[in-house]
Amino acid sequence: MTTTAPEATAALGHRLGTLLPPTALLLLEGELGAGKTCFVRGLARGLGVPEAEPIPSPSYTLMNQYQGRSPLYHFDLYRLHGREELEQIGYDDYLAGSGVTVVEWAERAGVPPHDHLRIVLRHAGEERRTVAFVASGAAFSDVVEALARAWPATGEEL
Ligand SMILES: Nc1ncnc2c1ncn2[C@@H]1O[C@H](COP(=O)(O)OP(=O)(O)OP(=O)(O)O)[C@@H](O)[C@H]1O
Ligand SMILES: [Mg+2]
Repeated sequence: MTTTAPEATAALGHRLGTLLPPTALLLLEGELGAGKTCFVRGLARGLGVPEAEPIPSPSYTLMNQYQGRSPLYHFDLYRLHGREELEQIGYDDYLAGSGVTVVEWAERAGVPPHDHLRIVLRHAGEERRTVAFVASGAAFSDVVEALARAWPATGEEL
């Protein structure tokens, strides 16, 4: 899928948020500035996190937590210093736990054995991004199909 403005990336995240089951693991990949945090901001609203609540990047805190219709755990592993730090914050418990866990720079922690949805964002121009979804597990295949059906071919309309 393609987005042509930050608002469109957030709108795509928002739509995914409305489609997710109460428990889900989302792994976000993409270089600096690809739009991962932007996507999570929309996702949070789609999950019912109130508009008034800011969604800052958890670069330094590693994880921020929100309450929507499910709990939302927003990780950013860019500044991760090693496996011990993951253990300190109980990362594995969030992978398998209840609620929606979304991880920026997830590749830094390796591929978890749990069912997950990989979301890969790439620069495709100044304000253009491609967003690819790779489902692991049947549940996410349905979600991705529903998302693709609801998304315009170019994202221009948003
Ligand atoms: N189509 C687009 N989708 C998302 N962001 C866009 C788009 N076009 C331009 N941008 C800009 O790109 C930047 C994306 O920033 P964002 O913090 O979401 O990236 P990130 O992938 O989370 O980066 P980091 O790896 O530093 O966490 C923002 O400044 C945003 O305004
Ligand atoms: Mg970010």
